[in-house]
Amino acid sequence: MRKTIGVLTSGGDCPGLNAVLRGVVCAAKHPERDWNVIGFKDGYEGLLGDDMFMELTLENTEGIMAYGGTILGTTNRGHFVSKTGGGNKSRISDEVIAKTKALLARLNIDALITIGGDGSLSTSQQLFEKGIPCIGVPKTIDNDLEATAMTFGFDSAVACVTDALDRLHTTARAHKRIMIIEVMGRHAGWIALYGGLAGGADAILIPEIPFSMDRLADFIRKRGEDGHPSSIIIVAEGATPIGRREQYRPGPGGEYRLGGIGDTVARELDKRINAESLVKEIRTCVLGHLQRGGDPTTLDRILGTRFGVKAVDLIAEGKFGYMVSYQNYSVLDVPIATAVRKLKVVTLDNQMVETCRAIGISFGDT
Ligand code: F6P
Repeated sequence: MRKTIGVLTSGGDCPGLNAVLRGVVCAAKHPERDWNVIGFKDGYEGLLGDDMFMELTLENTEGIMAYGGTILGTTNRGHFVSKTGGGNKSRISDEVIAKTKALLARLNIDALITIGGDGSLSTSQQLFEKGIPCIGVPKTIDNDLEATAMTFGFDSAVACVTDALDRLHTTARAHKRIMIIEVMGRHAGWIALYGGLAGGADAILIPEIPFSMDRLADFIRKRGEDGHPSSIIIVAEGATPIGRREQYRPGPGGEYRLGGIGDTVARELDKRINAESLVKEIRTCVLGHLQRGGDPTTLDRILGTRFGVKAVDLIAEGKFGYMVSYQNYSVLDVPIATAVRKLKVVTLDNQMVETCRAIGISFGDT
């Protein structure tokens, strides 16, 4: 039967969202199906406005795969927020659910594809529990979603970090400096771990492995003694010194966002190293939203497209409340509920951690 399906992109953007949208449209418009596709604008908020949607066609999605961002727009705030800062749950109001159902009914939407990270998929689960047929697609540069080996967006962010480290190496060497780069990832260290390894960082500081400033200072000092005048330290925004809490930066509107640990590491290292009159210059670079911008890598274009196609297949199978999931090189599906139960973080026995240690990278803990 010919269907009309809805799709939206929610939460922080990441490269590969447009690839998913194109994948959804191409699979839905396949001659065997020829379904209608309605795209809702600005994340879930598009479900509340009378004119916040557009028809997605083969024509208006042609060529979008190669571009970052999302042609639908997105937001990580508004009426549908279902997880706040520290991961606390919040309930979507009955009024919002009723308005959403009314719009979906008016547009004859048979199913809704929600493309988002941990918070946005928690919203998807809530909508599903209220009777809205949702299919989830996992996205985030942080790669912190359970039940999928990888989210699209992660590879592009890591490529950005790698490029940044390549650039920092040349200036660090020229000036014989210690360069500290702070990267995103919220409470998970995946971006720092992968970007740090690919970019040749000397030390990687991640939330999962609390670090000692003294040990980090010893490590950098030793590098100097061994004939390495410059060093690169990559620090995840959620990394913490042993016994301390994550660091937040106040933002506009009284909001607090993770950030500032890079400067703290620089200050503390300076106290320890330069107190011994080594006079090593230390500089901090916060990579910020550059990691979310730009065009998707080859891998993210392919993963995004495969996710979009699989999401449409799940609608055809009537597998609502499920999320597409990447496992062992295949795109499979899992209940959304299992993906949002807890964050996927780096475990101490992760092989990537072992590999880093094996090539002499310090995590500031030993
Ligand atoms: O979850 C993706 C992410 O980029 C995090 O790594 C980062 O902490 C956060 O979003 C930044 O959010 P915003 O775009 O609201 O500053």
